[in-house]
Amino acid sequence: MSRVFVTRNLPGNSLNKLRQAGIEVDVWPNFLAPPRNEMLRRVSGVAGLITMLEDKIDAEVMDAAGPSLKVISQYAVGLDNIDLKAAKDRGIIVTHTPGVLTNATADLAFALLTAAARRVVEGHDYVLRGQWQTWHPELLLGPELYGATVGIIGFGRIGQAFARRARGFDMKVLYTSRHPKPKAEAGLKAQYVGLDELLERADFVSLHTPLTPYTHHLLNSEKLAQMKENSILINTARGKVVDTQALLDALDHGPLFAAGLDVTDPEPLPANHPLLKHQRVVITPHIGSAGRSTRLQMAKMVVEDTLAVLNNSQPKFSAYN
Ligand code: DGY
Repeated sequence: MSRVFVTRNLPGNSLNKLRQAGIEVDVWPNFLAPPRNEMLRRVSGVAGLITMLEDKIDAEVMDAAGPSLKVISQYAVGLDNIDLKAAKDRGIIVTHTPGVLTNATADLAFALLTAAARRVVEGHDYVLRGQWQTWHPELLLGPELYGATVGIIGFGRIGQAFARRARGFDMKVLYTSRHPKPKAEAGLKAQYVGLDELLERADFVSLHTPLTPYTHHLLNSEKLAQMKENSILINTARGKVVDTQALLDALDHGPLFAAGLDVTDPEPLPANHPLLKHQRVVITPHIGSAGRSTRLQMAKMVVEDTLAVLNNSQPKFSAYN
């Protein structure tokens, strides 16, 4: 009987589909990721792995699984935790969940932008601390969303979905990506610019790029210093796209007014991390795709693609396409 190791419980009952196909499903029962030694032990002899973005899936894990391992299905669109070359070298198919989480992630990015600009969390804390004494013309002022200029770094599905939301607020949309995207650009009335120009012109910058060697610390101290005075940075992509120390400096000494972060480096942040002491930093625990139906759909996708590969068919969402 083939066995599939699932590194966290998934919402819904999609895993039953594997069981009904006669596959043994071993689900890691804990909330936290399996420790490395457990991972290496549990994968031995599996035919499939359903993985999460916190699981480091490298050659050692693949070799611990052995030649039975045919498919790694990642319960995320990002694949930076998986050594794709090592998988390819071993003939292991890798799949992921693109498309389905686009709107949920763009929604959260926009929520973070709104919260950071209009100081929603700061206002909430102010009320909870008993500081709310009166209405005042100068209380908790922040930048306006309507009519502002937004700069989107990475203009794939999620970047474009964020642009659609920004257009709804009559924002001017600038974007940068490896190549201009004339079709998407026209539909969204967006303008392609280089990274430097985007940083210099945008009131708000939102990151929507995968983590690659090129985007690692793409926003370092030099780039953050190019951002507009009192601008806001939103990151729902990957924490390591931003140099955290440089971000702290840009918040402390300018030019940043605020940041909205769903992803951080390190992740999670330790309790005493200086980012947590910043009133103008709104942080959520990497929940961009955490829409209920999105997560159910993601579960369906990883299960169906795992089954497809184990039945010697083509998966729908191969990472190599
Ligand atoms: C992803 O899919 O890469 C997100 O970060 C988690 O859903």
